[in-house]
Amino acid sequence: MTQHNHAQAPRQPELSRADFGEDFKWGASTAAYQIEGAHEAEGKGLSIWDVFSGKRGKVKQNHNGNHACDFFNRYPDDLALVQSLAIPNFRFSLSWPRLLPEGHGQINRAGVDYYNRLIDHCLELNITPWITLYHWDLPQALERKGGWANRDIVGWFEEYVALCIKLFGDRVKHWMVLNEPMVFTGAGYFLGVHAPGRRGFGSFIPAVHHAALCQAEGGRIIKQLLPEAEVGTTFSCSYIEPLRQQERDIKAAVRVDALLNRLFLEPSLGLGYPLDDLKFMRRIEKYVQPGDEGKLRFDFDFIGVQNYTREVVKYTFWTPFMQANLVSPKKRGVPYTLMNWEVYPEAIYHMLQQFGKYKGIKKLVVTENGAAFADQFQNGQVHDPERMAFLQRYLAQVLRAKQDGVNVQGYFVWSLVDNFEWAEGYDPRFGLVHVDFATQARTVKSSGYWYRDFLKKGV
Ligand code: NOJ
Repeated sequence: MTQHNHAQAPRQPELSRADFGEDFKWGASTAAYQIEGAHEAEGKGLSIWDVFSGKRGKVKQNHNGNHACDFFNRYPDDLALVQSLAIPNFRFSLSWPRLLPEGHGQINRAGVDYYNRLIDHCLELNITPWITLYHWDLPQALERKGGWANRDIVGWFEEYVALCIKLFGDRVKHWMVLNEPMVFTGAGYFLGVHAPGRRGFGSFIPAVHHAALCQAEGGRIIKQLLPEAEVGTTFSCSYIEPLRQQERDIKAAVRVDALLNRLFLEPSLGLGYPLDDLKFMRRIEKYVQPGDEGKLRFDFDFIGVQNYTREVVKYTFWTPFMQANLVSPKKRGVPYTLMNWEVYPEAIYHMLQQFGKYKGIKKLVVTENGAAFADQFQNGQVHDPERMAFLQRYLAQVLRAKQDGVNVQGYFVWSLVDNFEWAEGYDPRFGLVHVDFATQARTVKSSGYWYRDFLKKGV
């Protein structure tokens, strides 16, 4: 983390795919619960998100993912869109309770058949599937037994990962173990604003340790069963800067950085948890059993970087627990998206630099980047110049990092289609493709056409 401020004039850089090199992987990302719908189709078990979003007041406007984009039924059309947009790599996740309704044991054949069809269809269209094993939809049956806070999850997860690799590893070579563990443990087990809605240290701290163990253990199982696999895992990250160049703010920024950007990454690299900068996390040691230090470590082939913004931190008594220490973009008078996240393209440059400095990281792939804006559907079209500019400006920073020597080898837009944005419901739209959730009609946005032209021209 460096401490300085940049004034950045909005501009739209001229970009060419060729600048990134031939081997650079281009893609679009999604996740099962956010797009599939078919929440009770053909033997699927409930996930914690089915249950959480079914409770009043948990998700804005009481939206839920019951139908979402109906991708479960419409995947042939959506993959045709991926192909028509010239997107070579498609990232999606597997729903654990669709495959194992009870979380372990009995396999749901219909779920297996569905993912076989989806994968085969990708391959028929020459689209490379990149699969995330866990994108937040834990089987409710496991949550009833303590979920991520129960150490038994390591065994349940091992069974699930091994099953997926045995079922799909013959055709799928790109795997990601977890999606953003800091978010699903922090929002789900500490703040209670995501499923399963638990609060406090008592759940959060063991959940962190068990997720960190699963992250590495999952990687090991994939490699054992499928040595040729490209194994990664993904991390949320925000570029952190202190509000003022004052000791208290600078120290607060260091702590927020440790919590948001280092907590799960460093143990995987064999560096342990960053407890020197996170004193309140020291009670995690209570959950660490002999031999765990080694088990937390795994040599990933790539690390997935998911960056959207920067956070500016001022010291408060509660640092780093409370939102109170993050100074909102509104207060700072800078541009922001519908998620209230600052538009700050240099954030991705700094995060690629910051991650790129770790010796243990072999390569980085931006597995998510994108923005939610209030898109207008007019005369059968969606003109979204803000998203287009956002993607172009962030991409220019990815290129800058690459040219400065960071080993970044891929970029995936979040997201292919508008979808269920967790506790925010359907209003923040991130898609390159607009979805009318009443009719399920798809309309490619200007940003989608821009991405297509960008991808087509450079080859
Ligand atoms: C992070 C998550 O992985 C994804 O599920 C979410 O929709 C996007 N970022 C946007 O918030």
